[in-house]
Amino acid sequence: MSSVLVLNGPNLGRLGTREPDVYGSGTLDDLARVLRDDAPETTIDLRQTDAEGDLLGWLHEAADTGAPVILNAGAWTHYSFALRDAVSLVTKAGGTVVEVHLSNPHAREEFRHTSVISAVATGVIAGFGFESYRLALAYIRRNAL
Ligand code: DQA
Repeated sequence: MSSVLVLNGPNLGRLGTREPDVYGSGTLDDLARVLRDDAPETTIDLRQTDAEGDLLGWLHEAADTGAPVILNAGAWTHYSFALRDAVSLVTKAGGTVVEVHLSNPHAREEFRHTSVISAVATGVIAGFGFESYRLALAYIRRNAL
């Protein structure tokens, strides 16, 4: 069975109670259920970490296995060059990384307007809540599995 990595960075483990007006009231478990319903033929391997090294290691894993990635890097999006290098390592190896955000960072504080990973990601989807992930998964099912 093909597998998709759904990687989530810092503070996203708090979904459900974290600023529900911005991020919605669904939890990461709810998100996993929605994605599994969308793609029953696929293993949805959803992970979350508050430690940057974990995320880098998971991206290295994707570079080695070729598993497509849906990535919400949370605040690391805005300043982590180590993360950018790891995303680049995956996409330069021919892999797929779709950058997603629940909110639309461009409609929020100025520091969120910069993404250091967009330029090396395969594409970016932002502002649609869980739909951002579902759209990324639809793209991956059509093009990267
Ligand atoms: C986020 C947007 C980021 O600016 C923020 O730091 C997050 C979540 C989003 O999904 O909208 O943690 O990536």
